[in-house]
Amino acid sequence: MPPDRVPVKRTTAMLSAAAMEGPRPLLARRPSGPLSGSIQVPGDKSISHRALMFGSLAVGETHITGLLEGEDVLRTADAMRSLGATVARDADGLWRVAGRGVGGLCEPADVLDMGNSGTAARLLAGILASHPFFAVLTGDASLRRRPMQRVIEPLRGCGARFAAREGGRLPLAIEGAAAALPLDYRLPVASAQVKSAVLLCGLNAPGVTAVEEPQPTRDHSENMLRHFGAEVWVEAAGAGRMIRLRGQPELRAADVVVPGDPSSAAFPLVAALLVPDSRLRINGVGLNPLRTGLFATLNEMGARLSVENERVAGGERVGDLIVVQSALRGVDVPPERVPSMVDEFPVLAVAAACAQGQTRMRGLHELRVKESDRLTATAAMLAGNGVQVEVSGDDLIVHGKGAPPVGGGVVATHMDHRLAMSALVLGLVTDQPVGIDDARFIDTSFPGFVALMNGAAGEGTPALLAA
Ligand code: S3P
Repeated sequence: MPPDRVPVKRTTAMLSAAAMEGPRPLLARRPSGPLSGSIQVPGDKSISHRALMFGSLAVGETHITGLLEGEDVLRTADAMRSLGATVARDADGLWRVAGRGVGGLCEPADVLDMGNSGTAARLLAGILASHPFFAVLTGDASLRRRPMQRVIEPLRGCGARFAAREGGRLPLAIEGAAAALPLDYRLPVASAQVKSAVLLCGLNAPGVTAVEEPQPTRDHSENMLRHFGAEVWVEAAGAGRMIRLRGQPELRAADVVVPGDPSSAAFPLVAALLVPDSRLRINGVGLNPLRTGLFATLNEMGARLSVENERVAGGERVGDLIVVQSALRGVDVPPERVPSMVDEFPVLAVAAACAQGQTRMRGLHELRVKESDRLTATAAMLAGNGVQVEVSGDDLIVHGKGAPPVGGGVVATHMDHRLAMSALVLGLVTDQPVGIDDARFIDTSFPGFVALMNGAAGEGTPALLAA
């Protein structure tokens, strides 16, 4: 191995070793002072997965900076290696992906274990459906509970064959099509993962693949496909969009600069809105308009939140967020906003618990099929810490008192990183500390979360500590 190439810091073998350590309980309590200073959150998870996948399907060497080195993305890196791409990390954090060209991946020698990552599993299913070989996808207990029928159904149309456990659950065996047909599919649910699976499958089919979404969802796949040289057309279709891709392009290696993940920025952002006298700067956060529903909602709630230094980097809008502690009021979040903040509801619910008045978040059915049933688990997190909360159909209703909740509960995180971080943010403001049963899954999307939050809270006894 050349001296400037070092292996990835953490391999999946090490990840499994970490999982065998057993649960890691953690406690959050009020910091002695405000949150302040200037921080940077890890790279965007959605863009990181896609950069590794598109780089593996391109001809030439793709350079990725700012890649999220969280467990979910490391699983994708390992999977792309198993499929024949060369994926290496330089000592300075630059990732190099030597791709095999569209349709050029090869049969993996073993099962592909995607850990906790639904994005990795679903997008890979799309890639594998139009490659003429056999592969099996599996994941951890959380991922093995999640529905894969939503990708199996459209992908069957290309000629691939699938065998899964009952209800379309992993492990999933895929026999990719030898001569894939292009797809023409209307998504029954607004899901960027399913849309992306269809587009990735269509890459190795002749003709035009078309996918219509009922509401616009994050468009990182479309942006990156163009960036790598594919022809993609997008047009409005009712309340949603129609996306068309010309199949079998020659994707050319392209450099990718991964912005900070707005879904990760959400945690220090909400914490700074709630902890007295806080003022925090979060640098280089992705501001793709299909990801910024949380920021719009917090602004409606009265948040003092502004953006500086807005720019375009690597084809995505990026800016620095300035957040100042604010008195929040309850609001109504309309269902059409869900796709642009689908991962942010647990932490929005924490903000709502401290706001004055009722917040009603509508149309959250998709939260039931995330890393956990996030609708039920978010309500349980709040109820266990003295907050009045209801689930009515697919709506979450939080009654805020304009003051910190009591706290004192221990939150069951159900292998869900976003629940774990939301509960810890709650514990920074409640009267009594809040515990979580297991902090291990935070590393799937936000390695370094605990140190970063303790750093923002300054000197003194740490606010987040082992229980
Ligand atoms: C993602 C899409 C969303 C989101 C997930 C990442 C993506 O899922 O919840 O964390 O990268 O495409 P759905 O598309 O299933 O809503």
